[in-house]
Amino acid sequence: MKVTIFGSGYVGLVTGACFADAGNDVVCVDINAERVEQLQRGEVPIYEPGLDDMVSFNHDEGRLRFTTDPAEGVRHGLFQFIAVGTPADEDGSADLQHVLSVARTIGDHMDDYRVVVGKSTVPVGTADRVRAAVAEQLAARGERIEFDVVSNPEFLKEGAAIEDFVKPERIIVGTDNPRTGELMKALYAPFNRSHDRLITMDIRSAELTKYASNAMLATKISFMNELSNMAERLGADVEQIRLGMGSDPRIGYHFIYPGCGYGGSCFPKDVQALTRTGHDYGYRPELLEAVESVNRRQKQVLAERIREHFGGDLGGRTFALWGLAFKPNTDDMREAPSRVIMEALWEAGAAVQAYDPEAMDEAERIYGRRDDLQLCDNLYDAVEDADALVVCTEWQVFRSPDFERIRDALRYPVVFDGRNVYPPAMMEALGFTYYGMGRGESI
Ligand code: UGA
Repeated sequence: MKVTIFGSGYVGLVTGACFADAGNDVVCVDINAERVEQLQRGEVPIYEPGLDDMVSFNHDEGRLRFTTDPAEGVRHGLFQFIAVGTPADEDGSADLQHVLSVARTIGDHMDDYRVVVGKSTVPVGTADRVRAAVAEQLAARGERIEFDVVSNPEFLKEGAAIEDFVKPERIIVGTDNPRTGELMKALYAPFNRSHDRLITMDIRSAELTKYASNAMLATKISFMNELSNMAERLGADVEQIRLGMGSDPRIGYHFIYPGCGYGGSCFPKDVQALTRTGHDYGYRPELLEAVESVNRRQKQVLAERIREHFGGDLGGRTFALWGLAFKPNTDDMREAPSRVIMEALWEAGAAVQAYDPEAMDEAERIYGRRDDLQLCDNLYDAVEDADALVVCTEWQVFRSPDFERIRDALRYPVVFDGRNVYPPAMMEALGFTYYGMGRGESI
């Protein structure tokens, strides 16, 4: 099948590569000429396990092409996927200018029936606006060409995006035309084999399903973080509580890990946008507001703990910080707790020696070179002569380091563990003063 994907960012690239890998003929369109040139050379500008190989293999086979020419893209695909960014506006609502501009481009150039598929996470009602934008451009050209609009939100996790795409838990298709539903089913057939995971529904419900899923997951995390703060004060251990709670299948073990807050390009933005939508429609979503504010507060907890430990004054101190990315297996630092913690340490007059397995370039891009940030080559350089170690992301490589080497390199053997990576008893036995999250027993 012929597929066009607008937007060669994270979602667009994964979608394009996976459709091409299943044998489809895919054209990816992006307005960023530099990015398109990079991709044409087989270089993938984002870090995602397995994506490099998939892109270059399918590019070499001629099934995956990249262009800056939108007209070429519109002429190519029966399916026109819109996978461009929807950054948050100042008031938290999603900025739709890129989505609507692609819709207008499709209306400008289409010469035959097209299925316009929304992949970007967009507020309820956006598909109607996309439909109107395409129709308006067609009308301006005096053309009466048929097209359909579909909402097909993506549920990819960074670091596991390819796996999520090729073995999805669900494929949501929002459409008002059963025939289009069948076309989508045929396109997704290679990823929908063992049993039917494709759920067809009306367009608005599909748009809302995406926000509802992310908001539910964010709620689980904020709930656990709230509980973690209480456990700490009550002298209980949230990690034991997590195991006790998770054993109830109605609750489940997934996504109930407390920590130093959720980050990334999705949860913070989507919870805010859904809250905003509620307000726009005359409803105050109090639970969502709390999910957001608990998360904001949680990102401050580690910095406050560090300040307290050092008697309120961090001036002139240096901290080793492990884990800059918002979670393991990505170089993405958007809304990462590490940033809030690092900025709070700087604000208090301290310096940071940071290490992350993938996000070092990203940290340099965001913060540039500054005296109070040293980007280190490995985890041990980061702890050298630092006053304490702060762990912000649970990368696998942080789990079993040479603790004796770390203890000897640090000025004080103190570890602030924002992800409960280490067992408190073991850390204490190794001679560390250890602070976890919500581990009242150990404090
Ligand atoms: C999230 C969703 O998990 C995907 O299903 C969705 O498709 C995606 O957003 C999206 O909307 O595009 P992602 O942002 O890649 O995926 O990351 P997650 O693995 O969900 O982690 C989000 C944050 O929650 C991380 O900061 C992580 O550390 C934190 N987290 C996660 C916790 O603090 N506790 C947990 O138990 C789980």
